[in-house]
Amino acid sequence: MAEFVRIFEMGPRDGLQNEGRLVPAAEKTRLVDMLSDCGLQKIETTSFVSPKWVPQMADAAEVMAGIRRARGVVYAVLVPNLKGYKAARAAKADEVAVFASASETFSRMNINCSIAESLERFRPVLAAAAADGVPVRAYVSCVTDCPYEGPTPPATAARVAAELFKIGCYEICLGDTIGHGTPPTIGAMLDAVLKEVPPENLAGHYHDTKGWALDNILVSLERSLRTFDAAVGGLGGCPFAPGAKGNVDTLAVAAMLAGRGYETGLDMGRLDEAARFARGLRKERP
Ligand code: HMG
Ligand code: MG
Repeated sequence: MAEFVRIFEMGPRDGLQNEGRLVPAAEKTRLVDMLSDCGLQKIETTSFVSPKWVPQMADAAEVMAGIRRARGVVYAVLVPNLKGYKAARAAKADEVAVFASASETFSRMNINCSIAESLERFRPVLAAAAADGVPVRAYVSCVTDCPYEGPTPPATAARVAAELFKIGCYEICLGDTIGHGTPPTIGAMLDAVLKEVPPENLAGHYHDTKGWALDNILVSLERSLRTFDAAVGGLGGCPFAPGAKGNVDTLAVAAMLAGRGYETGLDMGRLDEAARFARGLRKERP
């Protein structure tokens, strides 16, 4: 039987947080509903962050209330602090994700605190989530490159990943936030991280700025990672990471994995329809 690789869909959150126009909540929920029929197990649906920082996600509660919840699909959301967690919980998110960085400058620019302060800020989120039985994922941004500081030492990415794993995050998602990672730099980073966290608790989140994302997934597969983030239509980017392009395209990842004999459980036809709809959201309607 073919080995299963999970694709964690990022389009509605990473994809739409960076859009110039404010996509109406109804169009976001339509996208999530279309994705729910594609065979995806996990969809990052929105983020409960400060609307002053990311106005594109200010309608998080409305989006969560509007989606049709398909059986077997986990609707995950991003939360930066306890306030975000409480709102996510009220909106019945199935899973939450906290987000840290391997770069001090990016941490300041993205969440307005140092790396150490962010870890302290996540502790009460982990405690509340544990009491509620809500799984917590964690991102480490800038694992190989930072838009402000340049290359990230692999040992720094490994240290932050280890801390997040230690405080109870079930999966550490390694973010090449600006898509400058290459197979050698991603490989070196993974070799350091794997000394701290086992591959079954890791995921790859590779933006595709320079066209290396699929190759970076391959070097990750070689190191036994089996979960990868991708965004339908290749949407994505971070408002605080200048130059960051979209996440690697879900269809491209699914096709590459199928070509190498892995099972993803995805319906390529429906995914294609969702991708067309997602790309249409980027354009202003007349
Ligand atoms: P701050 O200004 O230091 O926080 O921001 P604060 O506690 O002083 O709060 C400021 C205001 O925001 C207050 O409102 C709070 O109530 C409110 P006011 O009193 O002024 O009216 N506030 C909130 N509102 C709603 N939900 C919340 C929340 N928290 C505070 N959860 C903060 C600190 C972390 C809040 C801010 O910096 C923030 O929201 N940052 C989020 C940035 C973001 O979303 N970035 C994109 C996602 S990360 C990413 O894309 C990377 C990733 O894809 C992986 C990769 O590619 O590497 C995950
Ligand atoms: Mg991202």
